[in-house]
Amino acid sequence: MTHFQVNGHRYAAKPAAGQCLRTFLRDLDVFGVKKGCDAGDCGACTVHIDGKPFHSCLVPAFRGEGREITTIEGLAINGELHPMQQAFHDAQAFQCGYCTAGMIMTAVTLTDAQKTDLPHALKGNLCRCTGYRSINDALLGTCNIEPDEAGKALGASLPNPFTDAIVTGKARYTMDLAIEGLLHLKVLRSPHAHARIISIDRSAALAVPGVVAVYTWEDVPKRLFSSALHEDHLVDPDDILLLDNVARFAGQRVAAVVAETEAAAEAGCRALHVEYEILPAVFDPVLAVQPGAPLLHDKDLVTASNNIFCTLQGEIGDVAKGFKEADVLHEQTYSTTRVQHVHLETHGSIAWKGEDDRWHIRTSSQAPFAAQKKLAYIMGIPPRDLHVFTERVGGGFGGKQELVSEDLVLFATMKLGRPVKWEWSREEEFIGATTRHQMATRVRIGARKDGTLTALDVEVFSNTGAYGGHGGETLAAAMASPIAAYRCANKKGIGHAVYTNMTPGGGFRGYGASQTTFAVECAIDEVARLLDIDPFEMRRRNVVRPGDNIESIWKEPSDASFGSYGIGECLDIVERELRKGNGVTKPEGAEWAEGQGVAMAMLECGPPTEHRSGAEMRLLPDGTYHLACGSTEMGNGITTAHKQIAASMMGTRVDDIDIINADTDRTPYDTGTFASTGVVVGGKAVHLAAQAMSDDIIGFASRTTGVAIEQCRLDNDAVICGNQRISLRELHAEGAKVDHRFAVSRRAYLSPRTIAFNVQGVRLAVHRVTGEIRVLHSVHAADIGRPINPMQCRGQLDGAVAMGYGWALVENMVHDDQGHMVNPQLRNCRIPTFADTPHTDIFFADTVDLIGPLGAKSQGECGINPVAPAVSNALANATGVRFAHLPFTPDRLFAKLAAAQ
Ligand code: FES
Ligand code: FES
Repeated sequence: MTHFQVNGHRYAAKPAAGQCLRTFLRDLDVFGVKKGCDAGDCGACTVHIDGKPFHSCLVPAFRGEGREITTIEGLAINGELHPMQQAFHDAQAFQCGYCTAGMIMTAVTLTDAQKTDLPHALKGNLCRCTGYRSINDALLGTCNIEPDEAGKALGASLPNPFTDAIVTGKARYTMDLAIEGLLHLKVLRSPHAHARIISIDRSAALAVPGVVAVYTWEDVPKRLFSSALHEDHLVDPDDILLLDNVARFAGQRVAAVVAETEAAAEAGCRALHVEYEILPAVFDPVLAVQPGAPLLHDKDLVTASNNIFCTLQGEIGDVAKGFKEADVLHEQTYSTTRVQHVHLETHGSIAWKGEDDRWHIRTSSQAPFAAQKKLAYIMGIPPRDLHVFTERVGGGFGGKQELVSEDLVLFATMKLGRPVKWEWSREEEFIGATTRHQMATRVRIGARKDGTLTALDVEVFSNTGAYGGHGGETLAAAMASPIAAYRCANKKGIGHAVYTNMTPGGGFRGYGASQTTFAVECAIDEVARLLDIDPFEMRRRNVVRPGDNIESIWKEPSDASFGSYGIGECLDIVERELRKGNGVTKPEGAEWAEGQGVAMAMLECGPPTEHRSGAEMRLLPDGTYHLACGSTEMGNGITTAHKQIAASMMGTRVDDIDIINADTDRTPYDTGTFASTGVVVGGKAVHLAAQAMSDDIIGFASRTTGVAIEQCRLDNDAVICGNQRISLRELHAEGAKVDHRFAVSRRAYLSPRTIAFNVQGVRLAVHRVTGEIRVLHSVHAADIGRPINPMQCRGQLDGAVAMGYGWALVENMVHDDQGHMVNPQLRNCRIPTFADTPHTDIFFADTVDLIGPLGAKSQGECGINPVAPAVSNALANATGVRFAHLPFTPDRLFAKLAAAQ
């Protein structure tokens, strides 16, 4: 037995052979040490050893013996936050908070000199949520929060209610749980993009010490399902089995091994012997629809005799006539790449049987209720036998609108009767999880000399990969708002979602609309260039406006309408700011060219399919409130926003409302936290519940005092009836006497849907020889209605815009010609670091929405959409060359610029 000194406590423990310090510390229940990669790339595991920061995943545990180890839990002294924890608190330098412990542990060691060069000093710590601006604020000592005052919650920049837990490392994420008798699950993944499994020899795996069970396709229920989670499961094809005897992409799970330790489960996977029959594969959707292409699925899963999962098409007006009326035509194909969400907390879940004889699943999910329904269907048990819930979720971005871990852990725990955990590795995220759909969009636009659009025609090929979940819905989104954003009498479109032997596509912030926004916004700029019209003016002349039918290519009436309208203001703001400039000049040298670009995006707030949320509210005996909502908090700030909505309705302080969320036993139903619904559906349910709570309290107070209801009103922690003031505590006690419980619940349903807009402006410099790009000025304006929490809204947009720059400039999943991803590590498939992320000036249009709750509308999703086209438009402005294919990495720019010269 060896001794370790961790956060001032002495532990007698012996690391396993080869164990790293990160997992060793977590075995000691020191859960503030997180995993984002286990490869030294993300910094989530940063701890101090003798006062110096280390990535604990790279440190052999035995090297910690006799050293002073400090984790985030050991930073606060006598309950007082360390100044850096306080700085992160005051700046609200986090969203999901999963990176925060590591970020703080690095930040506290920085010298003043290092703080002047944060891009360099923080190069070892990644944050996927914030765009690093609020982290920069923390390091500068900026306070972004306002006081929590009764009756002033709406529009106040209040802190996340879980701030203290996050900055001290006490917040519990999915995997932060010590549980007796826990088994570990790991899967063997297919090395082939398309192969039939002839046999799996499990004998060697079962002989590995610690291995408890091996499961293959022969053992699991034969119920096809879709891993995509929606209210209506019929929108996604049932094309997946728990384990299948056909692998349709390199990375598909082939067999599951359950063992006493993670290492034994991994060793068991390595010991499996699988005999494959290699099948022909196809990776390009255009080739996949050709006659003779290898077929991925049975005929009943495709709509044609090839690999097309679905085709969407429509026409309004007469596009052929519209093109004849045009003075100029533009036609080009634009394509976007597959990228990964890289939520810093990987997928994972833990399942066990409770004392109530039910199955409990703790999971990192954006949609626990939809997961519950789907799991019940797969296992053939009633939903009431399942309890699905989240703890804190370390980012999602659409990637956790997917059932990819819960099914196997539930299956294994039901088989074995012991708790089972499955935590994905970062490599598994890249090769086995879903990605943004890769799309190619051909755009044809006709316009008159004055810029009026006469015809708009799009053709989309969406690569849905091996399985079709989200394939139809993302295609529908791709063909909706980016096209509906422009008024044009003649519009036409056809889109195909096509199966290929690639990693499956899934939901991802922007959800299909990002891809076609890129195409349409680049094309609009090209038409403006042909007509010599300013790009801002081109958009002003053609953008959809109140009174117009909001229609893309379908004649059916839409339930989307303008609850408010701020696109004009957004365009004005971005144009004004770019014109004003920020004083940053391009680098010296004739090889540097400078250009400016703009793009806009429209968002129909919420999906056109059903979406439902419920909220329950209770007055507690101490006069405070309890709020329960089904929405998932994953860094989107929804718990903060929901509390502020409720507090503003009750005229109280946000702190006087406690909240629970995303739990099928303890909160009302919620379809899921995706598709920009957290405020407009979940928030609406809270608004309705709070209104009902207010009515209930005032009604009871009126009856109790005999004062007319019109003369009763809430006042912070009391109700005032005429000239009497009764504290809510007293009122609750009065209610208890007559069994009045002060409990309400309300539901919200998404229709009609309001509309939000975003505009991105970019001024950049590009080096004509090396292809290097430097963003000189980045401006974003958003029409999100009334911001419930301006600081938080700004943070969401910071994160969305940073993700947009990542998609445009940095992120690149590279696959070889056999469908293998060749760079499934964060150091090789990068996401933006602090140094990669330009500062963006964020502005809001001054609008108050008439549809969304308290004037608010969706804001966290759409900010990503105009970024990549604005960059492309700026590049075209700088170089005269149109870059129509993402990403704009230097090698790609170099080749095209060299050819142009
Ligand atoms: S988990 Fe250690 S650096 Fe990512
Ligand atoms: S807050 Fe940094 S990864 Fe989520």
